[in-house]
Parts: sequence; structure tokens; C-alpha cells
Amino acid sequence: MPRGIFITIEGPEGAGKTTQARLLYEHLRPRYPVLHTREPGGTTIGEQIRTLLLDEDFREMAPQAEMLLFAAARAQFVSEVVEPALREGRLVLSERYVDASVAYQGYARGLGVDIDPRLVNLARDNAKRAGVESLAKFEVRDLFDTDLREASIVTMYLLPEVNRQLVPRLLQQLKPGARIVSHDYDLGEWTHDEMVEVAVPEKMVGPMGRSKVFLWVVPVDARGAWSFELPGHGGPWQFRIGQSYQLLDVEARVPGGVMAVRGARLRGDEVRLAVTGTLAGKPWNQLFRGKLAGDRIAGQVRVSDGENTASYPWTATRKP
Ligand SMILES: C[S@@+](CC[C@H](N)C(=O)[O-])C[C@H]1O[C@@H](n2cnc3c(N)ncnc32)[C@H](O)[C@@H]1O
Repeated sequence: MPRGIFITIEGPEGAGKTTQARLLYEHLRPRYPVLHTREPGGTTIGEQIRTLLLDEDFREMAPQAEMLLFAAARAQFVSEVVEPALREGRLVLSERYVDASVAYQGYARGLGVDIDPRLVNLARDNAKRAGVESLAKFEVRDLFDTDLREASIVTMYLLPEVNRQLVPRLLQQLKPGARIVSHDYDLGEWTHDEMVEVAVPEKMVGPMGRSKVFLWVVPVDARGAWSFELPGHGGPWQFRIGQSYQLLDVEARVPGGVMAVRGARLRGDEVRLAVTGTLAGKPWNQLFRGKLAGDRIAGQVRVSDGENTASYPWTATRKP
């Protein structure tokens, strides 16, 4: 009995899945019994679930409920369409399968809010026109009442005073590593991590003809006294870290003295510290790199005396 083959074609809206699937179908059909289908449709039950998912009345549907509905439609599709065809030894060509759920229900979820209903409607129309309405929801909401805890990226175009009022909420709710992107206006005393300026000749609001795009990465809380051993490099070390947003103020102590901290960088949960000093009468450079989680930093340290370089694992713990 011939073995069935299951091929899935994935990609975002407008990527050309249907075109590629049709070409592949035409190519394979002379040689194999091919069934060309698409997810989440293909079955009566799946189509009903799809109608439910697209229903404007159910905009408040929880992400978990949406994911389970997609999974239900898929279970029906597999049992009613895919498995019987594979059992008959056919080649099943499906536009979309489980990867689409991983991308759309797992990662690419967007929520757009504004207190002005006209702008929310405009955003919905624009998303529909661009074919991305399944990727984002738009709601009339005050952003100070919007839960940001699950957001990995917050993009905004707000006036400078609103930006500044929002900073405490961004820092309190977003996880370390989350990114904030702001159009034109900064976040007051919280210095940006990156900025690009682009020419936008048609722009007639704010700074006309040009746009600035700022990026911040939410920093982990690195403050405190961190200790660790560095065998052969002075014994017990301590970093005393003070912090203002992503900027660190670090003092490095070794038995009998301090080392000079030449550079300190925090981006999300990634810590980098460049240290120089004399240990046992010899000059050394140490470059520490690690990820901070809870009261632990784990990573690597590269040590160099100008002639020889070596790397070791590095783990530091924060004193309670
Ligand atoms: C500079 S306009 C940007 C408009 C549009 N989002 C854009 O990118 O072209 C600022 C927008 O912020 C909205 N806004 C101000 N305070 C808000 C708040 N607390 N909650 C939600 N939206 C707010 C205003 O209604 C206004 O539409």
C-alpha cells in the first residue's frame, strides 16, 4: 500500500501561499494522487468555527479560547480530511497548518488602543485593507487602563506629556527585554537605547517632513551587591550595582582593593561589565557577560593580561 505524504505551505497574508500551492499541485498531479486543501476550513465544523472566530461580536475572546478553537478546527480537519487521505496513500497539500497557530496565536498578537473611536475605526479599516485583520485587534480604550503585562513590544505615538506619564506603568508592567518604540517623542529622563531619524516628506504633523523613531529595552532590576569567586583572579569578588533605568553605576571590589569598571551595559536581562585592574601585581582586563534572572547572573568571563586570553563560566549571586 503506498504511503501518504503531508505537505504544508506556511506564510503571512499575501505571501503567495495559494500561488505556490497551485503550482506545486499542477507539478505533482501527473505523478501522485494529490488532495489540495487549506486550513482552518475544509470541513463543515471547521467553517462554523471559523465564522465564530471572525465574528465582530466576539472581539473580547480570550487568546486561550481563540487558540483552542483553532485547535478544535484542526482536530476536525485532521480526522475528517488528512488522515483518511493519507491512509489511501494520497499526497495532501495544505495551505497553513500548525505553524500558523504558533505564529499567530503564540507570538504575533497585536492590540491597538486609542480613546478616539474615529482612529480605532480607521485602524480597523487599514488593517483590513492590508489583509492583517486577523493579527491585531483595535479597541477604544484608555491606555492607562490597558494591561501591558503580556506585551513584548509597545509601539506608540503620543504627545510628550503622555509619554512621560506612561513611563512608571511601562516599567512596572513590562517584562525585562520588552521593547518600547515611540514615534517622534522621547520618554523624558529615561534615555533611549537607539534612535533613527528618517525623512518623511509627506508628514504634516509633529516635526514636519521628518520622523524620529526611538527604542528602549526594558531593563531588569540589577541593583544590589553581587558576589562570586574568580579562581586565580583575586578570590571573592563583589559588584555593588546602582541603577537608573538601563544605566548602571558599578563598583568592583576584590580583597584588598577595587578594580576600575571601564564599561557597564544593561540591555533587558543582559549584563556586560568591562573591568581593569591589578591583581597580585599583574594588570588584568576582565569582560563579564551574563543573563540576570532573579538573584543570579550566569554567563562567561573573558580574562586577559594583554598577552594571554581565557574564558571561564561566571555565576554571581545577589545578597538578599
Ligand atoms: C499624536 S496622536 C497619534 C495618532 C495615531 N495613533 C497615529 O499614530 O497617527 C496621539 C493619540 O493619542 C491618543 N491618546 C492620548 N491619550 C490617550 C490615552 N490615555 N489612552 C488612549 N489614547 C490616548 C489620542 O487620542 C491621539 O489619537
